[in-house]
Amino acid sequence: MPDALPPAASAAPAQAALFARYRDAAPAGDGPWNDVLASLLAHRSVRAYRPDPLPEGTLERLVAAAQSAASSSNLQTWSVVAVEDAGHKARLAAVARGQRHIEQAPLFLVWVADHARLRGIGAITRSPTEGLDYLETFLVALIDAALAAQNAVVAAESLGLGTVYIGALRNHPEAVAAELGLPPGAMGVFGLCVGYADPDGASDVKPRLPQSVVVHREQYRSTVTPEMVGTYDAAMMAFQQEQRMEPVGWTRTAMSRVRGAASLHGRERMRETLIALGFPLR
Ligand SMILES: Cc1cc2nc3c(=O)[nH]c(=O)nc-3n(C[C@H](O)[C@H](O)[C@H](O)COP(=O)(O)O)c2cc1C
Repeated sequence: MPDALPPAASAAPAQAALFARYRDAAPAGDGPWNDVLASLLAHRSVRAYRPDPLPEGTLERLVAAAQSAASSSNLQTWSVVAVEDAGHKARLAAVARGQRHIEQAPLFLVWVADHARLRGIGAITRSPTEGLDYLETFLVALIDAALAAQNAVVAAESLGLGTVYIGALRNHPEAVAAELGLPPGAMGVFGLCVGYADPDGASDVKPRLPQSVVVHREQYRSTVTPEMVGTYDAAMMAFQQEQRMEPVGWTRTAMSRVRGAASLHGRERMRETLIALGFPLR
């Protein structure tokens, strides 16, 4: 484990990183700091890639990092499909509203909530696998896949690579399953572009909600106030202006994403879709 620098020596880089992440709501005061924290706080999604290939063995190292994540009961109910073929990436990009970065990135990883492996092991060992029929066990696979993918993201960023998750694959999970040849009981829950960021399309660290809003001590209490909304909208507007984006803040976009079934772009049918893909969700 890397040692945390003493607060005095670490204050300047830590405060700069915290300011980038929270703007005026950056937590004050000293605290531990090291290279891992610096890398985590510097995260930003990358949506423009250079065509350069990844160094030999990168996929294997990213997967080793992913498999090093904790896993519920060590069931490891996830898989990943590595897509590098241009035609294949183009068809997956079409599923995800034509997001161009999917085709640009040299590597596109589709993270799979995978019950098919345990079902198959049940078949060859003649063991019942009815526990996989439950919503809880789908959540286990989803959580495992997300933890594994995030480890791969952290690893990729530590190697100087950029990434962006692609949840839009869930607009058409059946099409993704057909494209990737997924068996029943396997679903592509999100994709991940991996590659070298094109500096011309570089984005910056995006501010997050103030810690005072997301952290509760001992008991949850409501933190929703007009002041909170205003503070974060102001931070996001400043970020959007710097990025030459429309300064719409956060609240308007967030509310539009949860307004109703139509805001879910087909994902409002997810229960039926999951059942069709072989997750009974009892
Ligand atoms: C599960 C998940 C799905 C996402 N899906 C998409 C997507 O389809 N397209 C996209 O451009 N960004 C996608 N993102 C990236 C988010 O928009 C991004 O993480 C968020 O705006 C915060 O920005 P940052 O990652 O640069 O800090 C997704 C992120 C997550 C965690």
